[in-house]
Amino acid sequence: MTVTPKIAGVMGWPIGHSRSPLLHGAWLRRYGIAGHYIPLSVQPDRLEPALRALESLGFAGVNLTIPHKERAAQLVDRLTADAARTGSVNMVTVLADGTLEGASTDGYGFIENLRQSLGQWPIHGDRPVLVIGAGGAAKAIVPALRDSGYRLIQVTNRTDSRAEALADSCGVHTVAWERRHIALEGLGVVINTTSQGMVGQPPLELDLARLPMDAVVTDIVYTPLLTPLLLAAKDRGNIIVDARGMLLHQARPAFARWFGVDPTVDQALRDAVFAV
Ligand code: ATR
Repeated sequence: MTVTPKIAGVMGWPIGHSRSPLLHGAWLRRYGIAGHYIPLSVQPDRLEPALRALESLGFAGVNLTIPHKERAAQLVDRLTADAARTGSVNMVTVLADGTLEGASTDGYGFIENLRQSLGQWPIHGDRPVLVIGAGGAAKAIVPALRDSGYRLIQVTNRTDSRAEALADSCGVHTVAWERRHIALEGLGVVINTTSQGMVGQPPLELDLARLPMDAVVTDIVYTPLLTPLLLAAKDRGNIIVDARGMLLHQARPAFARWFGVDPTVDQALRDAVFAV
């Protein structure tokens, strides 16, 4: 009897930059699974027919990347709690009856990266955490931080009103943007969720002078891997965590669901996915 290979993929526009095929491909080989994970170039106005074709094509599911994450949340038949609260979907699973379920695993990937990199989580759980930014990434990260055990979460954002809206919806606090440097005093963890520090963008303006020396600094930007913020934090002796692991860990729930193995994130995988 021949086994039908399982098929999954990632939809984006453009899709050439996505590391997901490399990542899932490495796991498929590692676990000897007869399956395929395919990059799918889908124009924004073709997302709906593309998603509806998945069942007929025999796909187990697809990941979604820029620019499809928010639109997909409106197109699928049901949303997991994580996807509903972020209004964003990075994983669509074709259920047994052919309907589509949308999930968001970005918050999970963020927390699992810190847990693995630091060897413990939460860390400095009795001290405040500061989240910088209030865009799509922050919407996934703030509730995930809260669920992972932090009681004192603060959000600051260039546009204060967006920080207030996010903080209200998650039951956390805000720090006025101009007070962000002072607010570093006594913090346990600082998280950049903005695009500042990415290639082509200016560095995030943050004076680390008041940050405790044992605080952890992390950034969701991974081009470059060491952002100006992470370099500044490293130079003064803080523990830093880069964003590679977030990308790897957010993919685990999808691989586990579609291919049946909860895959391991280790150095060999980091090398395979980030060497190119
Ligand atoms: P996404 O949803 O993809 O994360 P976004 O909603 O535009 O994109 O969010 C980007 C984040 O980077 C926001 O927090 C944004 O702040 P504003 O809400 O004030 O726009 C932040 N950001 C972008 N440019 C910035 C800058 N020059 N300085 C500080 N923060 C900036």
